[in-house]
Amino acid sequence: HPPKLQMEANSSWSQANCRAKGGAPGFKVAILGAAGGIGQPLSLLMKMNPLVSVLHLYDVVNTPGVTADISHMDTGAVVRGFLGAPQLEDALTGMDLVIIPAGVPRKPGMTRDDLFNINAGIVKTLCEGIAKCCPRAVINLISNPVNSTVPIAAEVFKKAGTYDPKRLLGVTMLDVVRANTFVAEVLGVDPRDVDVPVVGGHAGVTILPLLSQVKPACSFTSEEINYLTDRIQNGGTEVVEAKAGAGSATLSMAYAAVKFADACLRGLRGDAAVVECAFVASQVTELPFFASKVKIGRNGVDEIYPLGPLSEYERVGLEKAKKELAVSIQKGISFIRK
Ligand code: NAI
Repeated sequence: HPPKLQMEANSSWSQANCRAKGGAPGFKVAILGAAGGIGQPLSLLMKMNPLVSVLHLYDVVNTPGVTADISHMDTGAVVRGFLGAPQLEDALTGMDLVIIPAGVPRKPGMTRDDLFNINAGIVKTLCEGIAKCCPRAVINLISNPVNSTVPIAAEVFKKAGTYDPKRLLGVTMLDVVRANTFVAEVLGVDPRDVDVPVVGGHAGVTILPLLSQVKPACSFTSEEINYLTDRIQNGGTEVVEAKAGAGSATLSMAYAAVKFADACLRGLRGDAAVVECAFVASQVTELPFFASKVKIGRNGVDEIYPLGPLSEYERVGLEKAKKELAVSIQKGISFIRK
């Protein structure tokens, strides 16, 4: 193939190409658990994100294949793969954003809390690496149970002396994505035009959609409120059961993770008014962590918005959510302090 041979032989072309790659503006992003069900489509979508200049893919298995595959996409981000614990530090050094979908997913009949024993240790190890190699990075934590893994990460960072609550965000975006979809179905409108705040946490009754604050303004019957709240809270289980043992949400989660990561990168870049729901260190309630709308800026979480006026139904839901959240948060904290 003469044209291709010419290009490869032309050293000025390849040098120019290298310079362009090395100097591309953008953020350095690492994905930990990149070879998994979420990790692979998430890596694919982040390779397409124009705000990313360098993409590090880390996992304990299969990253050479995933990296080789994704690196052939003709988008700007330079992709590098890292395999196994000895390469974790290289994967993390210099990163601006670290996205963590590492860990086991649910099977039918399991709650997210059933994953605690395995995933708590994984998150602890990864966060120790972050504290050492990129303590200023913004963290998007996806591994379940998020209600406990975010407190675990906070404790690891506190121990290491690197904790910055503005930079640690538990990803609850999939609950928002589902809420927007299901509400749009009921209203008969385009889901892209719908904005449903979802607060609390990321498991069962801790997922609290604020249907009284849906934009565009609308009202629901009490049947619709019951149906929507139940479907949003159990959306994950709907997927787990449909997959019948093959895992939990991966594709919609990768979509949600990228939507959230993109918001974080736009915030870090200095864009105004980047607001998303996330599970963060918070004073919105008496609990140390809570999910609500937050503004993301150059240093991570800039501002945490109060819940706003709640309906009676939501006030009851909030009390239930807080009860379960308190236990899950404490479980995460105790895992590190013990
Ligand atoms: P998966 O099992 O397909 O992939 C997990 C990946 O993590 C695997 O490739 C595995 O090798 C890797 N891994 C395991 N230990 C690791 C370590 N020490 N370091 C780096 N990588 C490691 O699971 P899937 O479906 O991708 O789910 C991942 C996690 O995301 C689960 O905990 C799941 O519950 C959670 N999840 C969270 C959601 C959310 O809304 N926050 C939604 C859906 C899933």
